[in-house]
Amino acid sequence: MADIVVQPLEEKYLAGFHTVRSLTYNNGDPIPAERQVMDSPGNKSFIARIGEEVCGACTILEMTATRGPALLKSAGVAGVAVLPELRKSGVGSTMMSWLVSHLRETDVPLASLYAFREPFYRKFGYEVVGKRLKVSCPTHRWPRIESDLPVRRLVPSDWMELHDCYRKFSHSRSGLNMRNEYLWLRVLGENRPLTIYAIGDPVEAYAVVSHQSSFWTTDHLSEVVWSTRRGYEGLISMLGGLAINKAGLSWFEPSDGPYYSRFLDAGVEVKVDRPVMFRVTDVPSALSQLVPHESISGTFSLEVNDSIEPANVGPWRVEFYDGKVEVTAETGSKPADLSMGIHAFTQAFLGEPGLTQLHANELIDVRSNEGLRHAMILMPDQATCCMDFF
Ligand SMILES: CC(C)(COP(=O)(O)OP(=O)(O)OC[C@H]1O[C@@H](n2cnc3c(N)ncnc32)[C@H](O)[C@@H]1OP(=O)(O)O)[C@@H](O)C(=O)NCCC(=O)NCCS
Repeated sequence: MADIVVQPLEEKYLAGFHTVRSLTYNNGDPIPAERQVMDSPGNKSFIARIGEEVCGACTILEMTATRGPALLKSAGVAGVAVLPELRKSGVGSTMMSWLVSHLRETDVPLASLYAFREPFYRKFGYEVVGKRLKVSCPTHRWPRIESDLPVRRLVPSDWMELHDCYRKFSHSRSGLNMRNEYLWLRVLGENRPLTIYAIGDPVEAYAVVSHQSSFWTTDHLSEVVWSTRRGYEGLISMLGGLAINKAGLSWFEPSDGPYYSRFLDAGVEVKVDRPVMFRVTDVPSALSQLVPHESISGTFSLEVNDSIEPANVGPWRVEFYDGKVEVTAETGSKPADLSMGIHAFTQAFLGEPGLTQLHANELIDVRSNEGLRHAMILMPDQATCCMDFF
């Protein structure tokens, strides 16, 4: 077979790109001419071609991901598709390997995606990170909580009022996308404008609701976010009113969310739902963008096995002090303090499972306990979650 070439989408390949998309994501129906556009704001598309025939497509959303106080550029990989007659012949794999190097070369140190099947993307270094929990609470088990915080009803154009609450929520965890106006409006009204119930002024918690008139159904809340304990309690209290003619409500929380640890009751279902996969595409750049507290310092050496992107391997010397991180190529013949695959590194980098759990399960090689201790200070275990779907 002729070579598979992967490249950014160009005007001359637009029709072929949309044919691939239509066969996978539009029921085989042609994509209307007005939607056959080149990149929209915040999106970049790529094709795989054999000769001049477009045989694969994918798009990245320009996103970010938190790691505690740090914020890194992250590509949300979406719309991955190959012409049905050319599947299982290496096109998707070529495209995914190319994308890792492309992201690294264009200074995007992280990528994330929702997989149709995790093992396909694992081959390119992606791994499941974090546990998003779906809480489904029947109305007859609704927690009884009193709150005197004000409740306001907002609309998508009020997104700026939510931003600070969402920012605090996101920076006390990892993997969350810090949204600009375009991404906020995508979340708050992609198909129709949604209703937002905000607790406190300024906002300390909010829920995004797609109102359904039906009685005795279990309705899913599009987003639940809080920045204070009393905000969370006020929100649960208010949502009890919304649930009054429903069988129950469901919503997502990160694994450190308070529902499971404070309000679990018989009949409430909590399950892991829609796992997100991440991949560090540039190990030294990602590490150097961490923001350690000014009071901590340390150093360790690290080797990361990465067969797709050998530039990530190192070994690296990582030093952190005065609120910054320096990463340099380690010289000398001494084996690195820590050695791990890119999958485990991506998990450790974001924090769930973090180094504690990875070490306990022998998923990393530790040659120096002191090195491990310092790495744990720089990259503490942290709940990881992505609240954006793409
Ligand atoms: C998922 C998808 C993008 C993968 O692309 P692809 O070109 O089929 O992928 P590849 O050919 O590189 O690899 C697919 C499988 O074929 C195998 N394969 C690759 N070359 C092969 C060959 N010459 N002969 C036999 N099998 C081969 C791969 O090992 C892989 O197997 P695995 O499932 O055990 O990992 C494509 O199948 C697709 O468009 N699927 C429908 C849409 C979809 O689900 N998209 C993903 C959304 S997240």
